[in-house]
Amino acid sequence: METPSLNRTYKKVVEQAQDFLPILGTDYIEMIVGNAKQSAHYFKTAFGFQDLAFSGMETGRKDRVSYVLQQGKIRLVITAPLTPESELWEHVRTHGDGVKVVALWVEDATKAFQETVKRGAKPYLEPCVESDSFGRVVKSGIHTYGETVHLFIERHDYRGAFLPGFVSHNSGFAPAESGLLYIDHMVGNVDWGQMNTWCSFYAEVMGFAQLISFDDKDISTDYTALMSKVMSNGSGYIKFPINEPAKGKKKSQIEEYIEYYRGPGVQHIAVATGDIVKTVQDLRARGVQFLEVPDSYYADLMHRVGQIDEEIEVLKSLRILVDRDDQGYLLQLFTKPIVDRPTVFIEIIQRKGATSFGKGNFKALFESIEREQELRGTL
Ligand code: FE2
Repeated sequence: METPSLNRTYKKVVEQAQDFLPILGTDYIEMIVGNAKQSAHYFKTAFGFQDLAFSGMETGRKDRVSYVLQQGKIRLVITAPLTPESELWEHVRTHGDGVKVVALWVEDATKAFQETVKRGAKPYLEPCVESDSFGRVVKSGIHTYGETVHLFIERHDYRGAFLPGFVSHNSGFAPAESGLLYIDHMVGNVDWGQMNTWCSFYAEVMGFAQLISFDDKDISTDYTALMSKVMSNGSGYIKFPINEPAKGKKKSQIEEYIEYYRGPGVQHIAVATGDIVKTVQDLRARGVQFLEVPDSYYADLMHRVGQIDEEIEVLKSLRILVDRDDQGYLLQLFTKPIVDRPTVFIEIIQRKGATSFGKGNFKALFESIEREQELRGTL
């Protein structure tokens, strides 16, 4: 019997996805942190993000400060509270530094709000217009898992640096970019038994379709397991894998995340590069720490993935992972958590045809994470 190719499956999924919520791309990701100035400096020096815009006391905003950074099509907003009364402290106190907003770029933010709320989304922000001398933006928002929210951003009448209320910003300090191009996917960790609930949310409320799923048979080691499903919007630009813990002998990394994040949240942001060897060399030189991969991973790599353009020795020296599906292959690597708690991390990914997510690497990856957990005493 012929198995449907992933490409055909993907096309079918995209056809299934309903187009009541056309999304043009990820507009920005906002992290709430304890010290935005220092976090922004880290994303610039370690990852090569560039200054784009700023909002804070100098722009009349007295309760919070935001640095907007950009690299390729990725916009990152780093926000911190300025006063003890700020509600943002509650977010930092509970979750540590973490992702609060996954903003989606839409044609019509009012319709996006109406269509999703009609289908059961919990409103976060009623449609509102913000404007300044550069034009107008319509924003709205809904809640998703945990305290994470989706904002819908309609910006076709806006020509400013970022959003009204922000001024364009250039500190004069600009370490070179590291080749990061766009967000490939963003993964959410949800609680035990909640994966299907949140996949249904993306299907029913946002019109996404399921791309692929893994279960604990695919992704388990001696100790830990997880289940994961990938939800994609109609255009295929937005891909949200959703993980839940599965029963293992010891505590899984998803459980560890949920314990330290104090609930569901964004686990990792996967960013695409056109040259992972160059990007990872660069990031390592800048001090970015990646998960360790055992030598044994490379011993039978050729056997597992077949012919690839890159030299195995080079990949091995940088600890880059490779996986193949029936469309091609992909190269990827995961940072250690980029915040103090064992929560959010970054994935660097280069796709060479493959449309999947590195299932073949999960086991090697998990074993690596377990070694880290063991050091933290949380396995
Ligand atoms: Fe990923």
